[in-house]
This record gives sequence, C-alpha cells and structure tokens, in this order.
Amino acid sequence: MKFKKFLIYFLTVYFMALTNLWGDEGKDLFIKNCANCHKSGGSAPVINPADKAGEIWKKYFSRGRHPDNEKMMSSIGEENSKKILNYLMNNAADSEHPEAAIIPK
Ligand code: HEC
Repeated sequence: MKFKKFLIYFLTVYFMALTNLWGDEGKDLFIKNCANCHKSGGSAPVINPADKAGEIWKKYFSRGRHPDNEKMMSSIGEENSKKILNYLMNNAADSEHPEAAIIPK
C-alpha cells in the first residue's frame, strides 16, 4: 500500500517535471526565434502568448500567416516550430496559464 502511494507521488512529480521541461523548451525557442524581431525597439511589434487564444495561434501557424512564412519556418525547423506553437497554445489568452509579458513591452 505504501509503495503504491509512493509510486503515484513519484509519477505525478515526474510528469510535472517533464511537462514543465517541454514548456520551458518551447519558451526558450520562442524567445530565441521570435523575440529577436518581436521585441521592444525591434523590427516587429512585441508579441506574447496571451495576445491570442490557443486556436488562433494554431491557425496562424497551420495557415502560414506570418510574413515570409516559408523562409522563417524552414530556418526554425518543423520540430522547433511545433514546440513553439505548443508553448504559445499552453500559455494563450484562454489557457490556464496565460503569459502576457514574456517579451516585455
Ligand atoms: C525576421 C523577423 C521576424 C521573426 C524572426 C519573427 N517575426 Fe513575426 N513578424 C515580423 C514582421 C515584420 C511582422 C509584420 C508586422 C506588422 O504587420 O506590422 C510579423 C508579424 C507577426 C504576427 C502578426 C502580428 C500580430 O500582432 O498578430 C505574429 C502573430 C507573429 N509575427 C508571430 C511570430 C512568431 C510566433 C515568431 C517566431 C516563430 C515570429 N513572429 C518571428 C517579423 C518577424
């Protein structure tokens, strides 16, 4: 019985650490790949995950709405752009953890 409790505890902590890790990787990629233009005083306006709802981010990516999208996405890579989208959706306006100031205005 004790072992079962420990196992549940261990798995919960492990899972939380794991999802947090993915979240942070997407965040780092977002800052590295997007904020070099989208920053205060940069060549494009400041953007943050909480600027849009999750579905809007999804469509923005899947429809290739970004100016010069192909060039940008091929330099970021499919795997990393998925991680960035995941991060944006997990922290979008309608998410449980909206992030409005990762890139300061
Ligand atoms: C090479 C510079 C550059 C990079 C890198 C870049 N962007 Fe942009 N982005 C722009 C420009 C320029 C615009 C057009 C701004 C305008 O319309 O005034 C834009 C527009 C946008 C818009 C629409 C503006 C809005 O408020 O809805 C979004 C969303 C966006 N970018 C997201 C991203 C994301 C996410 C990334 C990283 C994956 C990224 N951008 C990387 C330059 C960049």
